[in-house]
Amino acid sequence: MRSATVLRKAGERALSNRWSAIHNALPLSHFLTDNYGRKHNYLRISITERCNLRCLYCMPEEGVPLQPDSHILSRDEIKQLASIFVSQGVDKIRLTGGEPTVRRDIVEIVQDLKSLGVKELGITSNGIALHRKLPLLVESGITALNLSLDTLQDGKFMTITRRNGLNQVLKSLERALELGIKVKLNCVVIRGVNEDEILAFVKLAQWWPIEVRFIEYMPFDGNKWELNKVISYKEMKELILQKHPLMVHRDHKSGETAKVFKSPDWVGSVGFITSMTDDFCSDCNRLRLTSDGNLKVCLFGNEEVSLRDMIRSNVPKDEILEVIGEAVKSKKEKHAGLDELKTMKNRPMTLIGGHKLTHLNEKGEARMIDITEKQVTSRMAIAEGFIRFSNDLSIAQIEDNSNKKGDVISLTRISGLSGVKRTSELVILCHPLPVTKASISIDVLQDINSIRVECQVKCDGKTGVEMEALTGVTVALLNVYDMCKAVDKQMVIEGIEVVAKRGGKSDYGSALIEKSKM
Ligand code: GTP
Ligand code: 5AD
Ligand code: SF4
Repeated sequence: MRSATVLRKAGERALSNRWSAIHNALPLSHFLTDNYGRKHNYLRISITERCNLRCLYCMPEEGVPLQPDSHILSRDEIKQLASIFVSQGVDKIRLTGGEPTVRRDIVEIVQDLKSLGVKELGITSNGIALHRKLPLLVESGITALNLSLDTLQDGKFMTITRRNGLNQVLKSLERALELGIKVKLNCVVIRGVNEDEILAFVKLAQWWPIEVRFIEYMPFDGNKWELNKVISYKEMKELILQKHPLMVHRDHKSGETAKVFKSPDWVGSVGFITSMTDDFCSDCNRLRLTSDGNLKVCLFGNEEVSLRDMIRSNVPKDEILEVIGEAVKSKKEKHAGLDELKTMKNRPMTLIGGHKLTHLNEKGEARMIDITEKQVTSRMAIAEGFIRFSNDLSIAQIEDNSNKKGDVISLTRISGLSGVKRTSELVILCHPLPVTKASISIDVLQDINSIRVECQVKCDGKTGVEMEALTGVTVALLNVYDMCKAVDKQMVIEGIEVVAKRGGKSDYGSALIEKSKM
């Protein structure tokens, strides 16, 4: 490595840039503020599920099943979604993965994000393929690097990551320090694997302007996690205290994951990420976008909503914002405790996300925000319709979400809602109505090889909303037809009718309306 003075100066420059950026944060919109007053100005975007290592705490040796490329956000989609968040006050973005550098258009993505005007643009990388790209990435806008490194020994690097490459990672570290960006080193500590290197890592913090962060080992699906392999923050800190006095440098108050300490004569600092023994939920300021475009409001939560499907269906920005706002408001006060985390299903860091679509309400149904004050003039209608398949391929694909064109259920909900909104443009004599709420639900009826779509619509107005409900059902069914026509040429759309109505001259289907709780 180069001389300590050069590196120290570079580090100091990076630190001061970073703090001034954070303190100039834009005011945050209510969409990004949750029910506990937490303001989410930090967006983590996973740009790929792929990785060029196979760290044993992260994934099984054979890797994890990957989604087709078409499910992954494109460069343009990343920019579109990021710009929505930035327009609401997000001023810090971190690119993660998988391993973000395996994505060929990473430089262009960084340029796009920089052009949105974010103040801090970080990347979390394993450093294997980073050192050559780093100068261009920094020139394009990267201001901070979090580098994963769990051992300083060659043989052990192979054991932990199941690949070679320690030298490449060290080269990336050196390059980052030369370039003067902020550097944090992430070290996941596992009993029986690398706890004997804690003091060696501390030496790095002593001599170089980096923050070495010891991370408590967390359980994810398939990482063979065991409680007795977790080395707690307390245990790690006690070990370091035997050799070095530690003074609090920063804690979670700035929305950071780490508690950070320094010793008087150190250039750098050490931090502890205590996800297992002491959550930092009350100061959490982060949201995540998975590589397939789901918004995830908590690393340990299973709730996700697909923003990708919304932009692919040209849903207007203000509706996407409503959905984001609702997801943020649904964020829980704390993530599960240690006991629950041990047994909870969660994806590895690479796949934080996945393709489950639990849109908007507890039942996972897409709907608009209800802005109706309950009034006597309110009207509602429920329509239903069916699509009957001639073979069982389509239903099988829908159920295991393997239709080549995408997620049939979620895209059908979105198409149906889009139909409701456009009724007056499509059916010539229909007046535009101030629809206050709409939802689409979809049932698979295996015994009759069909799908049933139900559309409920509510409004305050002078005419009824049957046409909106009927249009919603029809367009939703057309979407199913469109997505399944490659595997079934003889589908039949049938039985479209209004099954309940309230608020006009004739009311009927009141039992259904009661059941729908609209
Ligand atoms: P900065 O604060 O921007 O430096 O990033 P970071 O520490 O959040 O990001 P990084 O990608 O380096 O992640 C390091 C570790 O932080 C991960 O291994 C997780 O253990 C932890 N982490 C990241 N995000 C979250 C989160 O939202 N919740 C929890 N509990 N842990 C997180
Ligand atoms: N426990 C703790 N940290 C983990 N990471 C990946 N899997 C785990 C785990 N099971 C860390 C990586 C990387 C960061 C983004 O997440 O080391 O630095
Ligand atoms: Fe790749 Fe990071 Fe997982 Fe290691 S921890 S396999 S580097 S994604």
